[in-house]
Amino acid sequence: NIDVSPLIDSDGGLIDRSIYTDREIYAQEMRRIFARSWLFLAHETQFKKPGDFFTTFMGEDPVIVSMDKEKKIRVYLNSCRHRGVRLCRADAGATKMFTCTYHGWSFDLAGALQSVPNETAYPDTFKKENWSLIEVPRVETYKGLIFGNWDKNADSLEDNLGDMKYYMDAMLDRDPEGTEVVGGVMKWELEGNWKLAAEQFATDWYHVNMSHASALMVLSPTGKGPKADIAATPGRQHGSENGHGAGFPTHPKSRFDAKMVHDYYDYDFLRERLGDDAVEGPMTTGHATVFPNFSYLPVNGSIRVWHPKGPDKIEVWAWILVDKSMPQDVKDAQRLYNLRTFGPSGIFEADDGENWSEIQAISGGFVTNSVPLNFQMGIGSEREDGTYPGQTSELYSDAAGRAFYRHWAKVMNTPAWHETN
Ligand code: FES
Repeated sequence: NIDVSPLIDSDGGLIDRSIYTDREIYAQEMRRIFARSWLFLAHETQFKKPGDFFTTFMGEDPVIVSMDKEKKIRVYLNSCRHRGVRLCRADAGATKMFTCTYHGWSFDLAGALQSVPNETAYPDTFKKENWSLIEVPRVETYKGLIFGNWDKNADSLEDNLGDMKYYMDAMLDRDPEGTEVVGGVMKWELEGNWKLAAEQFATDWYHVNMSHASALMVLSPTGKGPKADIAATPGRQHGSENGHGAGFPTHPKSRFDAKMVHDYYDYDFLRERLGDDAVEGPMTTGHATVFPNFSYLPVNGSIRVWHPKGPDKIEVWAWILVDKSMPQDVKDAQRLYNLRTFGPSGIFEADDGENWSEIQAISGGFVTNSVPLNFQMGIGSEREDGTYPGQTSELYSDAAGRAFYRHWAKVMNTPAWHETN
Protein backbone atom coordinates (compact mmCIF):
# COMPACT_ATOMS: atom_id res chain seq x y z
CA ASN A 1 0.00 0.00 0.00
CA ILE A 2 1.14 3.50 -0.87
CA ASP A 3 1.29 6.21 1.81
CA VAL A 4 -0.58 9.01 0.02
CA SER A 5 0.20 11.69 2.67
CA PRO A 6 2.91 13.36 0.54
CA LEU A 7 0.41 13.67 -2.34
CA ILE A 8 -2.30 15.60 -0.49
CA ASP A 9 -1.69 18.87 1.34
CA SER A 10 -5.31 19.60 2.18
CA ASP A 11 -4.41 22.38 4.65
CA GLY A 12 -2.16 24.10 2.13
CA GLY A 13 -4.49 23.36 -0.81
CA LEU A 14 -2.01 21.46 -2.99
CA ILE A 15 -2.80 18.18 -4.75
CA ASP A 16 -0.31 15.94 -6.55
CA ARG A 17 -1.54 15.19 -10.05
CA SER A 18 -0.46 11.56 -9.90
CA ILE A 19 -3.60 10.72 -7.92
CA TYR A 20 -5.45 10.92 -11.25
CA THR A 21 -3.08 8.73 -13.23
CA ASP A 22 -1.18 6.25 -11.06
CA ARG A 23 -2.39 2.68 -11.59
CA GLU A 24 -1.23 1.52 -8.15
CA ILE A 25 -3.10 4.35 -6.45
CA TYR A 26 -6.17 3.41 -8.48
CA ALA A 27 -5.89 -0.23 -7.37
CA GLN A 28 -5.59 0.96 -3.77
CA GLU A 29 -8.74 3.06 -4.25
CA MET A 30 -10.60 -0.10 -5.26
CA ARG A 31 -9.43 -1.84 -2.05
CA ARG A 32 -9.63 0.97 0.45
CA ILE A 33 -12.25 3.40 -0.87
CA PHE A 34 -14.74 1.47 -2.96
CA ALA A 35 -14.62 -1.74 -0.86
CA ARG A 36 -15.49 0.15 2.33
CA SER A 37 -17.54 3.29 1.49
CA TRP A 38 -21.28 3.73 1.15
CA LEU A 39 -21.90 3.58 -2.60
CA PHE A 40 -25.10 4.66 -4.36
CA LEU A 41 -26.80 1.75 -6.11
CA ALA A 42 -30.29 2.67 -7.26
CA HIS A 43 -33.54 4.41 -6.35
CA GLU A 44 -36.26 2.54 -4.44
CA THR A 45 -38.86 3.28 -7.13
CA GLN A 46 -36.92 1.08 -9.58
CA PHE A 47 -38.22 -1.95 -7.61
CA LYS A 48 -41.94 -2.61 -7.35
CA LYS A 49 -42.37 -6.37 -6.97
CA PRO A 50 -40.29 -9.43 -5.99
CA GLY A 51 -37.85 -10.33 -8.73
CA ASP A 52 -37.34 -6.78 -10.03
CA PHE A 53 -33.62 -6.23 -10.50
CA PHE A 54 -31.08 -3.68 -11.66
CA THR A 55 -27.41 -4.32 -12.39
CA THR A 56 -24.73 -1.80 -11.53
CA PHE A 57 -21.21 -1.51 -10.08
CA MET A 58 -19.57 -0.85 -6.73
CA GLY A 59 -16.22 0.48 -7.88
CA GLU A 60 -15.38 -2.05 -10.60
CA ASP A 61 -17.26 -4.88 -8.84
CA PRO A 62 -20.46 -5.73 -10.73
CA VAL A 63 -23.54 -6.19 -8.54
CA ILE A 64 -27.18 -7.19 -8.91
CA VAL A 65 -29.65 -5.12 -6.90
CA SER A 66 -32.89 -7.09 -6.54
CA MET A 67 -36.08 -7.36 -4.53
CA ASP A 68 -36.52 -10.70 -2.79
CA LYS A 69 -39.78 -12.51 -1.98
CA GLU A 70 -40.19 -10.53 1.26
CA LYS A 71 -39.74 -7.31 -0.76
CA LYS A 72 -36.36 -6.69 0.81
CA ILE A 73 -33.68 -5.13 -1.39
CA ARG A 74 -30.65 -7.42 -1.54
CA VAL A 75 -27.43 -6.92 -3.43
CA TYR A 76 -25.19 -9.67 -4.81
CA LEU A 77 -21.87 -9.79 -6.57
CA ASN A 78 -22.80 -10.29 -10.22
CA SER A 79 -20.39 -13.16 -10.77
CA CYS A 80 -21.30 -16.84 -10.93
CA ARG A 81 -19.83 -18.88 -8.08
CA HIS A 82 -18.78 -21.63 -10.53
CA ARG A 83 -16.28 -20.14 -12.97
CA GLY A 84 -17.04 -16.46 -12.44
CA VAL A 85 -19.04 -15.45 -15.49
CA ARG A 86 -21.17 -12.32 -15.20
CA LEU A 87 -24.36 -13.92 -13.95
CA CYS A 88 -26.92 -11.34 -15.06
CA ARG A 89 -26.20 -9.48 -18.29
CA ALA A 90 -29.38 -7.42 -18.50
CA ASP A 91 -29.38 -3.79 -17.36
CA ALA A 92 -32.68 -4.28 -15.53
CA GLY A 93 -35.75 -6.50 -15.57
CA ALA A 94 -37.73 -9.05 -13.57
CA THR A 95 -36.94 -12.70 -12.92
CA LYS A 96 -37.55 -15.63 -10.57
CA MET A 97 -34.03 -17.04 -10.86
CA PHE A 98 -30.63 -15.87 -12.05
CA THR A 99 -29.33 -18.62 -14.35
CA CYS A 100 -25.75 -18.59 -15.58
CA THR A 101 -25.29 -18.73 -19.33
CA TYR A 102 -22.05 -20.75 -19.15
CA HIS A 103 -22.98 -24.08 -17.47
CA GLY A 104 -26.43 -23.36 -16.09
CA TRP A 105 -26.08 -22.93 -12.33
CA SER A 106 -29.24 -21.18 -11.05
CA PHE A 107 -29.58 -18.91 -8.03
CA ASP A 108 -32.86 -17.80 -6.43
CA LEU A 109 -33.83 -14.33 -5.25
CA ALA A 110 -32.23 -15.03 -1.86
CA GLY A 111 -28.93 -15.73 -3.62
CA ALA A 112 -29.08 -19.47 -2.85
CA LEU A 113 -27.77 -21.95 -5.42
CA GLN A 114 -30.85 -23.97 -6.37
CA SER A 115 -29.90 -25.97 -9.40
CA VAL A 116 -26.66 -27.46 -10.76
CA PRO A 117 -26.78 -29.39 -14.03
CA ASN A 118 -25.15 -32.86 -13.69
CA GLU A 119 -25.01 -32.40 -9.93
CA THR A 120 -24.49 -36.15 -9.31
CA ALA A 121 -21.02 -35.89 -10.86
CA TYR A 122 -19.85 -33.72 -7.97
CA PRO A 123 -18.29 -35.30 -4.84
CA ASP A 124 -20.34 -35.78 -1.66
CA THR A 125 -18.46 -32.88 -0.10
CA PHE A 126 -20.09 -30.50 -2.62
CA LYS A 127 -22.94 -28.72 -0.83
CA LYS A 128 -25.02 -26.22 -2.76
CA GLU A 129 -25.50 -24.13 0.39
CA ASN A 130 -21.78 -23.38 0.35
CA TRP A 131 -22.01 -21.81 -3.10
CA SER A 132 -24.57 -19.03 -2.65
CA LEU A 133 -24.01 -15.69 -4.32
CA ILE A 134 -21.68 -13.33 -2.48
CA GLU A 135 -23.98 -10.80 -0.79
CA VAL A 136 -23.23 -7.17 0.02
CA PRO A 137 -23.55 -7.19 3.83
CA ARG A 138 -24.89 -3.66 4.32
CA VAL A 139 -27.71 -2.14 2.28
CA GLU A 140 -29.42 0.97 3.63
CA THR A 141 -31.59 3.71 2.19
CA TYR A 142 -31.91 7.42 2.74
CA LYS A 143 -35.19 8.94 1.51
CA GLY A 144 -35.44 6.69 -1.53
CA LEU A 145 -31.73 6.40 -2.31
CA ILE A 146 -30.29 2.89 -1.90
CA PHE A 147 -26.64 2.57 -0.88
CA GLY A 148 -24.50 -0.52 -0.28
CA ASN A 149 -21.30 -1.10 1.65
CA TRP A 150 -18.99 -4.16 1.64
CA ASP A 151 -17.84 -3.30 5.19
CA LYS A 152 -20.22 -5.02 7.59
CA ASN A 153 -18.92 -2.90 10.49
CA ALA A 154 -19.22 0.45 8.72
CA ASP A 155 -21.01 3.33 10.45
CA SER A 156 -24.66 3.50 9.43
CA LEU A 157 -25.44 5.32 6.19
CA GLU A 158 -27.22 8.10 8.10
CA ASP A 159 -24.30 8.55 10.51
CA ASN A 160 -21.93 8.68 7.57
CA LEU A 161 -24.06 11.31 5.80
CA GLY A 162 -24.27 13.42 8.99
CA ASP A 163 -24.80 17.11 8.20
CA MET A 164 -25.05 16.26 4.52
CA LYS A 165 -28.61 15.01 5.14
CA TYR A 166 -29.78 18.61 5.62
CA TYR A 167 -28.44 19.55 2.19
CA MET A 168 -29.83 16.40 0.54
CA ASP A 169 -33.28 16.97 2.07
CA ALA A 170 -33.65 20.12 -0.01
CA MET A 171 -33.95 17.76 -2.99
CA LEU A 172 -35.29 14.56 -1.41
CA ASP A 173 -37.83 15.93 1.07
CA ARG A 174 -39.67 18.71 -0.75
CA ASP A 175 -42.62 16.40 -1.29
CA PRO A 176 -44.16 14.46 1.65
CA GLU A 177 -44.66 11.61 -0.84
CA GLY A 178 -40.94 11.56 -1.63
CA THR A 179 -39.23 11.26 -4.99
CA GLU A 180 -39.21 8.88 -7.94
CA VAL A 181 -37.01 8.35 -10.97
CA VAL A 182 -38.47 8.80 -14.46
CA GLY A 183 -37.19 7.49 -17.77
CA GLY A 184 -34.26 5.14 -18.00
CA VAL A 185 -30.72 5.37 -16.69
CA MET A 186 -28.57 7.43 -19.06
CA LYS A 187 -25.03 6.14 -19.46
CA TRP A 188 -22.05 7.65 -21.19
CA GLU A 189 -18.27 7.43 -21.07
CA LEU A 190 -15.70 10.14 -20.44
CA GLU A 191 -11.95 10.24 -20.46
CA GLY A 192 -10.97 11.37 -17.00
CA ASN A 193 -10.36 10.14 -13.48
CA TRP A 194 -13.50 9.66 -11.37
CA LYS A 195 -12.28 12.19 -8.77
CA LEU A 196 -12.24 15.03 -11.31
CA ALA A 197 -16.01 14.77 -11.59
CA ALA A 198 -16.68 14.00 -7.92
CA GLU A 199 -14.51 16.88 -6.66
CA GLN A 200 -16.08 19.38 -9.08
CA PHE A 201 -19.60 18.51 -7.96
CA ALA A 202 -18.48 18.77 -4.31
CA THR A 203 -16.73 22.11 -4.52
CA ASP A 204 -16.50 23.91 -7.82
CA TRP A 205 -18.86 26.80 -8.53
CA TYR A 206 -15.82 28.74 -9.80
CA HIS A 207 -15.93 27.12 -13.25
CA VAL A 208 -19.54 28.11 -13.95
CA ASN A 209 -18.93 31.62 -15.22
CA MET A 210 -16.11 30.63 -17.56
CA SER A 211 -16.85 27.08 -18.66
CA HIS A 212 -20.58 27.62 -19.06
CA ALA A 213 -20.49 31.25 -20.23
CA SER A 214 -21.86 30.56 -23.71
CA ALA A 215 -24.57 28.26 -22.38
CA LEU A 216 -25.60 30.90 -19.83
CA MET A 217 -25.82 33.49 -22.64
CA VAL A 218 -28.11 31.19 -24.61
CA LEU A 219 -30.35 30.69 -21.58
CA SER A 220 -30.42 34.34 -20.54
CA PRO A 221 -33.41 36.34 -21.82
CA THR A 222 -31.08 39.30 -22.38
CA GLY A 223 -28.40 37.25 -24.09
CA LYS A 224 -25.86 38.55 -21.58
CA GLY A 225 -23.31 36.31 -19.95
CA PRO A 226 -22.55 36.06 -16.26
CA LYS A 227 -21.45 39.09 -14.26
CA ALA A 228 -17.74 39.76 -13.96
CA ASP A 229 -17.98 40.47 -10.25
CA ILE A 230 -18.60 36.90 -9.29
CA ALA A 231 -17.09 37.14 -5.81
CA ALA A 232 -20.09 39.20 -4.73
CA THR A 233 -22.51 36.35 -5.46
CA PRO A 234 -23.97 35.28 -2.13
CA GLY A 235 -23.87 31.59 -1.34
CA ARG A 236 -22.34 28.91 0.83
CA GLN A 237 -20.34 25.76 0.41
CA HIS A 238 -20.38 22.88 2.89
CA GLY A 239 -17.44 20.47 3.25
CA SER A 240 -17.86 17.48 5.55
CA GLU A 241 -15.31 15.50 7.54
CA ASN A 242 -16.54 12.42 5.66
CA GLY A 243 -15.61 13.99 2.33
CA HIS A 244 -19.10 15.08 1.23
CA GLY A 245 -19.60 18.53 -0.25
CA ALA A 246 -22.41 20.86 -1.38
CA GLY A 247 -22.43 24.38 -2.77
CA PHE A 248 -25.27 26.76 -3.61
CA PRO A 249 -26.04 30.40 -4.24
CA THR A 250 -28.42 31.95 -1.76
CA HIS A 251 -31.30 33.78 -3.40
CA PRO A 252 -33.78 36.10 -1.75
CA LYS A 253 -36.40 34.08 -3.60
CA SER A 254 -35.91 30.46 -4.45
CA ARG A 255 -36.55 29.43 -8.02
CA PHE A 256 -36.56 26.56 -10.40
CA ASP A 257 -35.19 27.26 -13.85
CA ALA A 258 -37.85 25.19 -15.61
CA LYS A 259 -40.78 27.61 -15.47
CA MET A 260 -43.47 24.97 -15.18
CA VAL A 261 -41.65 23.41 -12.24
CA HIS A 262 -41.13 26.81 -10.64
CA ASP A 263 -44.82 27.66 -11.07
CA TYR A 264 -45.81 24.29 -9.58
CA TYR A 265 -44.07 24.77 -6.27
CA ASP A 266 -45.90 26.26 -3.31
CA TYR A 267 -42.95 28.08 -1.78
CA ASP A 268 -44.83 28.99 1.41
CA PHE A 269 -45.41 25.28 2.00
CA LEU A 270 -41.75 24.52 1.26
CA ARG A 271 -40.55 27.24 3.61
CA GLU A 272 -42.67 25.74 6.36
CA ARG A 273 -41.52 22.20 5.55
CA LEU A 274 -37.79 22.73 4.97
CA GLY A 275 -37.13 26.14 6.53
CA ASP A 276 -36.35 29.45 4.83
CA ASP A 277 -32.61 28.82 4.76
CA ALA A 278 -32.97 25.52 2.91
CA VAL A 279 -35.41 26.97 0.39
CA GLU A 280 -33.15 29.96 -0.30
CA GLY A 281 -29.97 27.88 -0.22
CA PRO A 282 -29.48 24.21 -1.08
CA MET A 283 -32.83 23.99 -2.90
CA THR A 284 -31.57 26.48 -5.50
CA THR A 285 -29.08 25.94 -8.31
CA GLY A 286 -26.66 23.90 -6.27
CA HIS A 287 -24.30 21.00 -6.70
CA ALA A 288 -23.19 18.20 -4.37
CA THR A 289 -21.20 15.00 -3.97
CA VAL A 290 -21.68 12.26 -1.43
CA PHE A 291 -18.21 10.75 -1.01
CA PRO A 292 -16.90 9.02 -2.98
CA ASN A 293 -18.78 9.03 -6.30
CA PHE A 294 -22.47 9.97 -5.99
CA SER A 295 -23.37 13.48 -7.11
CA TYR A 296 -26.56 15.44 -7.66
CA LEU A 297 -28.03 18.70 -8.89
CA PRO A 298 -31.25 19.61 -7.08
CA VAL A 299 -32.70 22.05 -9.60
CA ASN A 300 -31.99 19.83 -12.59
CA GLY A 301 -33.19 16.69 -10.80
CA SER A 302 -30.02 14.91 -11.81
CA ILE A 303 -28.58 12.16 -9.62
CA ARG A 304 -25.54 10.36 -10.95
CA VAL A 305 -22.69 7.98 -10.22
CA TRP A 306 -19.17 8.39 -11.56
CA HIS A 307 -18.24 4.74 -12.12
CA PRO A 308 -14.45 4.34 -12.23
CA LYS A 309 -13.24 2.36 -15.23
CA GLY A 310 -9.49 2.56 -14.76
CA PRO A 311 -7.55 5.64 -13.61
CA ASP A 312 -8.36 7.57 -16.78
CA LYS A 313 -11.94 6.67 -17.60
CA ILE A 314 -15.40 7.26 -16.12
CA GLU A 315 -18.75 5.78 -16.99
CA VAL A 316 -21.42 8.27 -15.98
CA TRP A 317 -24.79 6.81 -14.98
CA ALA A 318 -27.48 9.44 -14.54
CA TRP A 319 -31.08 9.26 -13.34
CA ILE A 320 -33.77 11.94 -13.50
CA LEU A 321 -35.42 12.57 -10.14
CA VAL A 322 -38.85 14.20 -9.71
CA ASP A 323 -41.22 14.70 -6.80
CA LYS A 324 -43.83 11.95 -6.69
CA SER A 325 -46.77 14.32 -6.30
CA MET A 326 -45.95 16.39 -9.37
CA PRO A 327 -48.61 16.22 -12.12
CA GLN A 328 -47.39 14.42 -15.23
CA ASP A 329 -46.88 17.59 -17.26
CA VAL A 330 -44.62 19.03 -14.53
CA LYS A 331 -42.64 15.78 -14.38
CA ASP A 332 -42.26 15.99 -18.16
CA ALA A 333 -41.05 19.59 -17.92
CA GLN A 334 -38.48 18.61 -15.29
CA ARG A 335 -37.30 15.66 -17.41
CA LEU A 336 -36.88 17.82 -20.52
CA TYR A 337 -35.09 20.56 -18.58
CA ASN A 338 -32.75 17.91 -17.18
CA LEU A 339 -32.00 16.54 -20.65
CA ARG A 340 -31.37 19.99 -22.12
CA THR A 341 -28.94 20.97 -19.38
CA PHE A 342 -27.33 17.88 -17.83
CA GLY A 343 -28.34 15.00 -20.09
CA PRO A 344 -25.57 13.30 -22.10
CA SER A 345 -25.78 16.08 -24.71
CA GLY A 346 -26.92 18.79 -22.31
CA ILE A 347 -25.45 22.24 -22.83
CA PHE A 348 -23.74 22.26 -19.43
CA GLU A 349 -22.80 18.59 -19.26
CA ALA A 350 -20.72 18.77 -22.44
CA ASP A 351 -18.67 21.69 -21.04
CA ASP A 352 -17.75 19.77 -17.88
CA GLY A 353 -16.73 16.53 -19.58
CA GLU A 354 -14.52 18.47 -21.97
CA ASN A 355 -12.54 20.01 -19.10
CA TRP A 356 -12.03 16.74 -17.25
CA SER A 357 -10.89 14.98 -20.44
CA GLU A 358 -8.44 17.80 -21.17
CA ILE A 359 -6.91 17.46 -17.70
CA GLN A 360 -6.59 13.71 -18.10
CA ALA A 361 -5.31 13.68 -21.66
CA ILE A 362 -2.13 15.60 -20.78
CA SER A 363 -1.49 14.13 -17.34
CA GLY A 364 0.80 11.37 -18.59
CA GLY A 365 3.73 13.72 -19.21
CA PHE A 366 6.50 13.47 -16.60
CA VAL A 367 6.88 17.20 -16.03
CA THR A 368 3.13 17.82 -16.28
CA ASN A 369 2.54 15.20 -13.64
CA SER A 370 5.18 16.70 -11.33
CA VAL A 371 3.46 20.06 -10.88
CA PRO A 372 0.94 20.30 -8.02
CA LEU A 373 -2.63 21.47 -8.59
CA ASN A 374 -4.14 24.40 -6.72
CA PHE A 375 -7.05 24.08 -4.27
CA GLN A 376 -6.30 27.24 -2.26
CA MET A 377 -9.38 29.36 -2.89
CA GLY A 378 -11.03 30.39 0.38
CA ILE A 379 -8.35 28.72 2.45
CA GLY A 380 -8.98 29.30 6.14
CA SER A 381 -12.54 30.54 5.55
CA GLU A 382 -14.22 27.36 6.78
CA ARG A 383 -16.35 28.00 9.86
CA GLU A 384 -19.70 27.31 11.47
CA ASP A 385 -21.82 30.11 10.05
CA GLY A 386 -24.78 29.74 12.43
CA THR A 387 -27.22 29.14 9.57
CA TYR A 388 -26.13 26.10 7.60
CA PRO A 389 -25.04 22.85 9.34
CA GLY A 390 -21.41 21.83 9.67
CA GLN A 391 -18.41 23.70 8.35
CA THR A 392 -19.17 26.12 5.52
CA SER A 393 -17.21 28.51 3.35
CA GLU A 394 -17.99 31.02 0.63
CA LEU A 395 -19.72 29.87 -2.56
CA TYR A 396 -16.51 30.53 -4.51
CA SER A 397 -14.11 28.38 -2.54
CA ASP A 398 -12.22 25.10 -2.71
CA ALA A 399 -13.18 24.24 0.87
CA ALA A 400 -15.25 21.16 0.03
CA GLY A 401 -12.51 20.01 -2.36
CA ARG A 402 -9.96 20.19 0.43
CA ALA A 403 -12.38 18.27 2.70
CA PHE A 404 -12.93 15.68 -0.06
CA TYR A 405 -9.18 15.05 -0.45
CA ARG A 406 -8.50 15.18 3.30
CA HIS A 407 -10.97 12.33 3.73
CA TRP A 408 -9.71 10.53 0.62
CA ALA A 409 -6.17 10.51 2.02
CA LYS A 410 -7.34 9.33 5.44
CA VAL A 411 -9.28 6.40 3.97
CA MET A 412 -6.45 5.52 1.58
CA ASN A 413 -4.00 5.36 4.50
CA THR A 414 -6.22 3.30 6.82
CA PRO A 415 -6.35 -0.50 6.57
CA ALA A 416 -9.81 -1.73 5.54
CA TRP A 417 -11.97 -4.57 6.93
CA HIS A 418 -10.38 -7.15 4.63
CA GLU A 419 -6.92 -6.25 5.94
CA THR A 420 -7.72 -6.32 9.65
CA ASN A 421 -10.17 -9.23 10.07
FE1 FES B 1 -21.63 -20.13 -14.21
FE2 FES B 1 -20.28 -22.27 -14.92
S1 FES B 1 -19.59 -20.20 -14.84
S2 FES B 1 -22.34 -22.13 -14.38
